[in-house]
Amino acid sequence: MLENRDELLRAIKNEVLALKESPLYAERIKNGVFPVIGEGSHKARIMFVGEAPGKNEAKTGRPFAGAAGKILDELLVSVGINRPDVYITNIVKDRPPFNRDPLPEEIVVYGPFLDRQIDIIQPEVIATLGRFSMEYIIRKFGLEKELKPISQMHGTSIMAQASYGPVNIVSLYHPAVAIYNQHSKETLFEDFKILKQNI
Ligand code: URA
Repeated sequence: MLENRDELLRAIKNEVLALKESPLYAERIKNGVFPVIGEGSHKARIMFVGEAPGKNEAKTGRPFAGAAGKILDELLVSVGINRPDVYITNIVKDRPPFNRDPLPEEIVVYGPFLDRQIDIIQPEVIATLGRFSMEYIIRKFGLEKELKPISQMHGTSIMAQASYGPVNIVSLYHPAVAIYNQHSKETLFEDFKILKQNI
């Protein structure tokens, strides 16, 4: 597993590219855009998991390439984390129309790809961005009893047991909350300090 990470991740990319059974596939083809698989170090100790690609991401095939990405970049810089050293992905790999919330059936289709990315990269820390990824990751590791609203979970960490060893789950607000809200931005900066203490 550890030796052929690049190959295994490439296989995921090829499978998602050919994922005709996805409810978002037709939309992708119609709009001439791309799925967003993930970006960063295949040996990352930290994996960030967002929700789904937006317009810029689908256009470029890169996660967090738009306004929310700018904020994520500022947050990473603020705690001295180099973006190329981490791995950034989403639960849903294709853009939902009009950036609506992902539907449960879309999470069912794309979740297994995220599960495989986690098993391949084997991060020590998974930082969830927003409530969809928080809920998915907490449930995935059988910790649903710990689930509370994100207003209570943000800035906290929970240890979980992955197939490859312990993993620390750090729940964070989605960077998009800070686009128009300075108070949320300050909270995100504080929560990133907590993330930094957990790596
Ligand atoms: N929002 C997300 O959740 N993911 C992205 O990649 C971009 C915006």
